[in-house]
Amino acid sequence: MKLKICRWPEPVLAAKAKPVEEITPELQELIDNMIETMYEDEGVGLAAPQVGESIRLICVDQTGPKERGDLLVLINPELSECEGSVDSEEGCLSCPEFTGKIKRYEKLKVKAMDREGKELCFDAEGYLAIILQHETDHLDGITIVDRASRLKRGMYRKKASKWA
Ligand code: NI
Repeated sequence: MKLKICRWPEPVLAAKAKPVEEITPELQELIDNMIETMYEDEGVGLAAPQVGESIRLICVDQTGPKERGDLLVLINPELSECEGSVDSEEGCLSCPEFTGKIKRYEKLKVKAMDREGKELCFDAEGYLAIILQHETDHLDGITIVDRASRLKRGMYRKKASKWA
């Protein structure tokens, strides 16, 4: 089932999400629905707070909705050993009609659980590293709008208030 995507500045997007404590059938259903939603909305990543669930869960596919070749479901992801710096032009399903240039790390290490609860540990760089930083930002209540300049954020706030 495709889920409704929360839009900035809905409060759930600004909250720090809670760790997932238990892998339940409800969680599996949420994961399936998030994957469907990510692909249907042509995203390369989706974080649970974007569908109104304030828990530390993301799904990512750097190959996008057409290929669907590299799906990752990460529970309680942690990024470490971040290195390098790249400028990244980003959009977000929760921030329609907004793009921003953001400084991201070039490479990093990821520790997480997969959807079966198995521990995962891997290195990521390039586009995948950028997506992972964008999605884990969501788990900490940070969107690309929050990372933009005050002026740009103010202009977007005005635009977004017309949709509400
Ligand atoms: Ni996003």
